[in-house]
Amino acid sequence: MHEKPASASFHSHGPLTGTERVPGDKSISHRSLMLSALAVGESRVEGLLEGEDVLATAAAMRAMGASINRDSHGIWHINGVGVGGLLQPDTALDMGNSGTSTRLLMGLIASHNITATFTGDASLSKRPMGRVIEPLAQMGAEFTASPGGRLPLTMRGACPAVPIRYRLPVASAQVKSAILLAGLNTPGITTVIEPIPTRDHSEKMLAGFGAELTVDTDADGVRTITIRGEAELKPQQIVVPGDPSSAAFPVVAALLVPGSDVTVENVGINPTRAGLFTLLQAMGGDVQLINQRIVGGEPVADIRVRHSVLHGIESPHDIVPSMVDEFPILFIAAAMAKGRSVLRGLEELRVKESDRIAVMAEGLRAIGATVEEVEDGLIIDGRNGDPFPGSATIATRLDHRIAMSFAVAGLVSQQPVQIDDMAPIATSFPDFVPLMTRLGAEARPIATTDTAA
Ligand code: S3P
Repeated sequence: MHEKPASASFHSHGPLTGTERVPGDKSISHRSLMLSALAVGESRVEGLLEGEDVLATAAAMRAMGASINRDSHGIWHINGVGVGGLLQPDTALDMGNSGTSTRLLMGLIASHNITATFTGDASLSKRPMGRVIEPLAQMGAEFTASPGGRLPLTMRGACPAVPIRYRLPVASAQVKSAILLAGLNTPGITTVIEPIPTRDHSEKMLAGFGAELTVDTDADGVRTITIRGEAELKPQQIVVPGDPSSAAFPVVAALLVPGSDVTVENVGINPTRAGLFTLLQAMGGDVQLINQRIVGGEPVADIRVRHSVLHGIESPHDIVPSMVDEFPILFIAAAMAKGRSVLRGLEELRVKESDRIAVMAEGLRAIGATVEEVEDGLIIDGRNGDPFPGSATIATRLDHRIAMSFAVAGLVSQQPVQIDDMAPIATSFPDFVPLMTRLGAEARPIATTDTAA
């Protein structure tokens, strides 16, 4: 997808200041398109993330019959086909870099009379799909996957599918959501048991669209979610809040660059997503959630951050799902903090867009941080606010969050930190460079040699 790597380095020449908004939440944007495409009538979505991952979902839903259009005010209009009404796509569904698109769409197709082939980029083609194949096969779908349960894969949905009762073996909102979406067009009650809570956008939005869904939480915090199939979804007006996973980058940048005072407005702070902000506060970070309110059914706040001297921390295991995508940038913060951070229980990071434990350890060492890699995380001895030596090129390995994390590290480095390929940032945060520049950072593009014959 990215033909020529666009390389850059990032620098700061003083405090970061200003008030900004980050683009819409990626998880909510995917689900907005999918559920609207299954409702009968027109839904409107405001604040949709227009990143490559979400556009891959839009293209797939169009290929299966939905009408999806953006108007000149940036509002998206979706006319759905009704639950059970998805059509056979004519060509393979290209999911680009997006695991969420792939796994959730596999769920939708599992209970439709559809045969579909999924393809993806080199990063997505390494990621495990067995975690969704297993429950969806129990529901009756059939799969032919590449070795190791990977993409490219072809699946045939079952109609009618069989309702299952499934206990999640990994804490994954994607697996939970795939099963619930399959359950939408499955006769009877489909049940997912979630021992460790993960982001709950699917449950909230399915209920908002009119599906019959229940959630029970027992004394140990285990959640049992049921959905009654053959549902009828009603079109909705959706306002997507700013993505906390994108806000994480300017927030940590402001904590690290001396003198900074930055506000990121309109950020989603759903408790299943906001673990990073809590952890940064516990590390001594001046992170204030102000003007808390509800927007489109989700809690939202403006986040004011001022430069702080952070101290090391041991992250509690039960916080992991609520900040699973934020560990790369937390590692940068920990490497600048005073003292040791023990960040473990993170084995899921090894199967994200890259192996985020190994890739972050390698990059941190390259810029001069002291890091020990263990199977399930990193142990980091912080620099007590001393800038990184820098002078390194970071291999981002098609992982947007690796690129943005080291862009932030560059702001507190003596010598340049070169990001080898900035292009993946467009999957989730197309406005990252202009936004950081408005706050006062400097991005220096680095000319790459065109080796084409
Ligand atoms: C997501 C869930 C998370 C997260 C991903 C988006 C979602 O994955 O890493 O970026 O939208 O459901 P897992 O649920 O597999 O941990």
